[in-house]
Amino acid sequence: MEGSSSLQQVSCRAKGGAPGFKVAILGAAGGIGQPLAMLMKMNPLVSVLHLYDVVNSPGVTADISHMDTGAVVISLSLSLWGHVLLYNVNHGLVRGFLGQSQLEDALIGMDLVIIPAGVPRKPGMTRDDLFNINAGIVKTLCEGITKCCPDAIVNLISNPVNSTVPIAAEVFKKAGTYDPKRLLGVTMLDVVRANTFVAEVMGLDPREVDVPVVGGHAGVTILPLLSQVKPPCSFTPEETDYLTSRIQNGGTEVVEDFLYLFLSCSLLGSAWLYLQPIRISELPSITEEHNTLSCLTDDSNFFVHMSEAKAGAGSATLSMAYAAVKFADACLRGLRGDASVIQCAFVASQVTELPFFASKVRLGRTGIDEIYPLGPLNVYERVGLEKAKKELAESIQKGVSFIKK
Ligand code: NAD
Ligand code: LMR
Repeated sequence: MEGSSSLQQVSCRAKGGAPGFKVAILGAAGGIGQPLAMLMKMNPLVSVLHLYDVVNSPGVTADISHMDTGAVVISLSLSLWGHVLLYNVNHGLVRGFLGQSQLEDALIGMDLVIIPAGVPRKPGMTRDDLFNINAGIVKTLCEGITKCCPDAIVNLISNPVNSTVPIAAEVFKKAGTYDPKRLLGVTMLDVVRANTFVAEVMGLDPREVDVPVVGGHAGVTILPLLSQVKPPCSFTPEETDYLTSRIQNGGTEVVEDFLYLFLSCSLLGSAWLYLQPIRISELPSITEEHNTLSCLTDDSNFFVHMSEAKAGAGSATLSMAYAAVKFADACLRGLRGDASVIQCAFVASQVTELPFFASKVRLGRTGIDEIYPLGPLNVYERVGLEKAKKELAESIQKGVSFIKK
């Protein structure tokens, strides 16, 4: 009878002792969580993957567990109480955990905890508008970490990152388990976007481009250092304005219904003069266009890039999952002892006078081994840095006060 195996004793044995790290994803059933779980299941450095959420984690776990990646199948017993497994799914390499009562089980013994739990933005919102809901979620999850895996590396994705990282730090301090080397706010998506947009403008392969993005993860706090791009590139002032604005507004480009209007100076080949984003909803004649399209007007002097984007259905999920996996993989390679693993992240820092700042860090066996200084900045970047620091200081303080109060 179909399904009868759930009423019998079933035993599946582990094959070989696969080396690797234990990773938990908190918020695993969400828009980021699901593709992130899939990509982590494909990572050979992961031996155990725990998927925790307050909804739908059993289904996501069952789904992911059918992927024929990874080697370990842990002994599994299903019995008359087999239905219980629907709520605490154990599929060998991947295990699902549902609801607050299973948070601690999800966290025990983890080497790396990735947190994309929380609500995403809708059009018209800033990341800071998410504070009221996400601050409490991050606090609760971090309290679980202090109890169950205080030595784990924590990759915090939930927005507003500029405040949730200080919240996590305060929770850990309160519990006496804070190690600033192990707490990292994930700003990798800004780097991924910067590499892509710079590659587009310069006609390069994005995989060969490396743009340091420092500061934080919201608006003007996202500061791409275009003077330090590798391979070395020189940008016109218009290109610098366009790239900086596009990188700072990358998240909004996905959330909102923006139209980007550029005036192309066709006589000078590829130079573009960036004007400004305009809401598609404010232009009724073209609201029927969906997704993304590019078109040239008759005289080729205007380049119009339209994106109706997710328009209420959330924020970046797929590019974020990609970026999160790139970052988590760097953390795991650091834990394994690989040399020269360097990525940008929002961390406790003395690079500026602020207590937290995103910059390049070297990852090692105990988390962050080294935080690099910003390096030489040009005038444009120095002005951007001052703006970034002003906003960052407020966001950091908001996070700290949330716990201290
Ligand atoms: P989503 O709504 O699709 O998924 C969030 C998931 O979190 C849901 O499955 C939800 O059930 C779960 N959740 C809610 N409360 C929880 C709790 N207490 N414990 C565990 N899980 C809980 O949202 P999303 O698109 O996946 O985005 C998640 C977060 O990531 C948002 O805050 C978003 O702003 C942020 N984000 C950050 C970056 C970045 O670069 N750092 C990029 C994109 C999105
Ligand atoms: C992003 O940069 O895509 C995320 O921070 C999500 C958002 O709200 O923009």
